[in-house]
Amino acid sequence: MMVSQESDKIRALILGGTADANLLAAEIARAGLDAVYSYGGRTRAPADQPLPTRIGGFGGAGGLAGYIRDERITHVIDATHPFAAGMSRNAVAACMETGTPLIALERAPWARVPGDNWIEVADVSAAVAALPGAPANILLAIGRQHIAPFATKPQHAYTLRFVDPPEAPLPFAADVIVSRGPFTHEGELEMMRTRGIHWIVARNSGGDGARAKIDAARMLGLPVIMIARPELPDRQSAESVTEVMRWLGHRTCLGA
Ligand SMILES: NC(=O)c1ccc[n+]([C@@H]2O[C@H](COP(=O)([O-])OP(=O)(O)OC[C@H]3O[C@@H](n4cnc5c(N)ncnc54)[C@H](OP(=O)(O)O)[C@@H]3O)[C@@H](O)[C@H]2O)c1
Repeated sequence: MMVSQESDKIRALILGGTADANLLAAEIARAGLDAVYSYGGRTRAPADQPLPTRIGGFGGAGGLAGYIRDERITHVIDATHPFAAGMSRNAVAACMETGTPLIALERAPWARVPGDNWIEVADVSAAVAALPGAPANILLAIGRQHIAPFATKPQHAYTLRFVDPPEAPLPFAADVIVSRGPFTHEGELEMMRTRGIHWIVARNSGGDGARAKIDAARMLGLPVIMIARPELPDRQSAESVTEVMRWLGHRTCLGA
């Protein structure tokens, strides 16, 4: 059977908002592939991309399936944050419904190394429960949507770090650092020392960019309450941009 060139053309959808998604977008643009980059719309000034960009939710799995059909998307790459479980579940459902190939670009989670003092918990409410009873200085490195449950432990002094200044009042008084990162090992040590941080609550995001706080905590002998990644449906995944490019049928000049 003759297949037209048009029907062979790739049109990829990158579900983005992470450093890895940005690296992938750069590589896809370099390869001259047709693609759309999608942001969830959480940050006020998202980074410019070398690809056409859209911002905001699709309206659930059904909305994403409609978008895939309307935009003639041939491949979906879920390069969202490992804790963006809603988007990732919708991507699995929409790709199944439309028969569209899907791959997740996900960094391996961090593994404990000698000297780490981690308390591993399943979710945010377990992290709140794991905090000590006596007042302590706590760095909450978990994203603003998840901080509210910590109001139930008001004896602590919390330090929060956000990409944008908070628009709405916070659920409790806190020291807020506004910074986009990436963060250096020295910078994290300095921040923890000057604020007298005793405990850190973090999500197991993986990757090098967010790792500095975990390494700094180990150096200072601080306990880290580490929230495990959410369970997701089975899906194909890749750990590198090179693997995703190979999946799209393209070579790159990047290392593996
Ligand atoms: N770089 C980082 O460190 C970092 C950290 C956290 C989050 N993020 C990014 O921020 C975004 C939101 O995270 P979240 O935890 O709020 O996710 P979530 O809870 O899984 O997403 C909630 C809803 O937001 C919309 N959405 C999320 N990501 C989207 C995307 N890339 N394009 C279009 N719509 C999207 C979807 O709405 P509909 O159901 O209406 O489609 C989704 O159902 C993600 O893209 C994630 O990668 C980045």
